[in-house]
Amino acid sequence: MTHPPENPPAARGFASDNQASVHPDVLAAFAEVNAGHQPAYGDDAVTGRLREIVRRHFGDRAEVYPVFNGTGANVVSLQAMSERWSSVVCPESAHINTDECGAAEKIAGLKLVTVPAPDGKLTPGQVERYATGFGNVQRRQPAVVSITQSTELGTVYTAEETAAVAAAAHERGLTVHMDGARIANAAASLGVPLRALTTDAGVDVLSFGGTKNGLLLGEAIVVLNPDAVRGVDYLRKSSMQLASKMRYVSAQLVALLEGDLWLRNAAHANAMAARLAAAARAVPGVEITQPVQANTVFAVIPKDAAERLRERFPFYTWDEATGEVRWVCSFDTTAADVDAFAAALAAEMPG
Ligand SMILES: Cc1ncc(COP(=O)(O)O)c(C=O)c1O
Repeated sequence: MTHPPENPPAARGFASDNQASVHPDVLAAFAEVNAGHQPAYGDDAVTGRLREIVRRHFGDRAEVYPVFNGTGANVVSLQAMSERWSSVVCPESAHINTDECGAAEKIAGLKLVTVPAPDGKLTPGQVERYATGFGNVQRRQPAVVSITQSTELGTVYTAEETAAVAAAAHERGLTVHMDGARIANAAASLGVPLRALTTDAGVDVLSFGGTKNGLLLGEAIVVLNPDAVRGVDYLRKSSMQLASKMRYVSAQLVALLEGDLWLRNAAHANAMAARLAAAARAVPGVEITQPVQANTVFAVIPKDAAERLRERFPFYTWDEATGEVRWVCSFDTTAADVDAFAAALAAEMPG
């Protein structure tokens, strides 16, 4: 008789919030909607409820389109905001540039104009400098500015910074996309509603993140300015992001957004990152390289120490050349996880 493989131990590392578990309230939401038949493709009551909740957060003009993943949210959004001759201005570190296997180029046929941004944040001056070539038939036409909140480097744009970038984009006729895979972490960090960082700051289309904040799978395109998009419904389907049994994707987003689960999860992850940063700063030789404003800590530590630590606590090296590493905290990271890691870090550091 063969035995099923044992479950792996329930270890928690710092590699990514994608590696975290699913929040129990989200699992419960599956069970709640798992009865009877409902119309498919988003005509169900659960997705209807999600529409209401999203408008409560983002304003009456907001339209939500649940999708399977963050890359899909970004690519469908950018397609809906652009033409076949368009370019998108974004920071060099943008996930759409570095970690989506060229989906924006392959699926949307876009050119990304990437801007050096050591802290992951685009400035209004850079929008002015990099959105150029209007009316020049030799040049891709700038159509969209895409920013990430919180950024891939763990920093956050304030509402004012976002509004300034959006104003610079709009002045030049560009619209604004926000990759909000971790927008909950940014809102929790700043203590402001989601709306303050999006609708009220002039963002036109948001990729709203769920998976990194306790969902099993599920993100949403939230169109904040309907005048900025065309054909989102058709593009979602033709880009393979339309779920037939959508009620199960929507139920997770409802569980996250109906009460304050989105905020509690994100605030907890941020608090764990702050705890980790404080402990790491106290270890001689550890250099924290970015402001810790959300749920991610970047640091430079000796490569051999990183290798030994990784055997017990998974995490990624961000920059092989400098030895910079990334530690991500999640809604299910515990203070004991952080303290154990910090103690191991202190023990592994030379001298
Ligand atoms: C900032 C950001 N945007 C988008 C994504 C893409 O999400 P997915 O892996 O679900 O496509 C990620 C995933 O790590 C991310 O960190």
